[in-house]
Amino acid sequence: MDNADLKATARSLVAKGKGILAADESTPTIKKRFDAIQVESTAANRQAYRELLFSAPGIEAFISGVILFDETLRQTAADGTPFTRVLADRGIIPGIKVDRGAKPMAGFPGEKITEGLDGLRERLEEYRQLGARFAKWRAVITIAHTLPSRANIEANAHALARYAALCQEAGLVPIVEPEVLMDGDHDLARCETATARTLQAVFDALFHQRVDLEGMLLKPNMVISGLDCPQQADVESVATRTVNLFGKVVPAAVPGIVFLSGGQSSLVATAHLNAMNAIGRQPWELSFSYGRALQEDTLKTWGGDTARVAEAQNVFLLRSKCNGAARYGEYNAAMENTAT
Ligand code: 13P
Repeated sequence: MDNADLKATARSLVAKGKGILAADESTPTIKKRFDAIQVESTAANRQAYRELLFSAPGIEAFISGVILFDETLRQTAADGTPFTRVLADRGIIPGIKVDRGAKPMAGFPGEKITEGLDGLRERLEEYRQLGARFAKWRAVITIAHTLPSRANIEANAHALARYAALCQEAGLVPIVEPEVLMDGDHDLARCETATARTLQAVFDALFHQRVDLEGMLLKPNMVISGLDCPQQADVESVATRTVNLFGKVVPAAVPGIVFLSGGQSSLVATAHLNAMNAIGRQPWELSFSYGRALQEDTLKTWGGDTARVAEAQNVFLLRSKCNGAARYGEYNAAMENTAT
């Protein structure tokens, strides 16, 4: 595989004004999202919901790629067109979640290691044939009393690098996602330290394992207060601390940083991305790969009701548009009230 293709795909995924929709919830995770709106998690309902997202009019102006789950990659729209084709026909690049989930790490209570490397080469080959052009692997790092441990960070970094090398061999752009979780009452400084340690270990492993940094994207957390921290940092602090840290630990060869939302509300996630881009030009594109922050309002509006599909698609378009504006640092709260 020519790395030029990988680099071009990576750059397209972080094209100006656009970002990624993470719609790769595993079957247990989408069940949780559907439970919250009292919709049964059947294959038919999952298909209907994903079709609502992927066919929303106008989103291709703001959405460069969509991360799918295995089941969705194999599903079709109601008219029989494969979802990968529905997306590709709109100029939206299909991607695939390839990890097999974060499992408790033996010997390290409270910490998790992501599984899924065995047989990955063969799975990647099939995913490429099915139309995927990029992939995602998520590692989770937990902040608690004495955590994260060095062993946990290093084990996860090693797996991320092995995954990334296999993706590039298969002609898929790896999205490397080390997520330092927001759970806990820790402050911004602790998140910053844990994120710095994690990213240093991840880039060390990527370098050792000969991953081409120009043909990958980083999907990290922001430097942000723990969800239960009594002193929540303001938007400006999150933006400056995040950009400053990344300037020290993320090589300029990486074409883009696509943030996860990780439990931030839709509006806060957009405001943070906007504030980071308002700081000015950086070595990498600063973009989004949001799951919950792009979908929460859409899910609520839909509520499983076919009569509300168009309204829900409008809500999704508005969130995509607001985040698209945040890519330029041009988002403002008044946009929330504009008709799409
Ligand atoms: P959130 O934006 O909901 O954190 O999801 C992004 C994602 O893909 C997590 O792996």
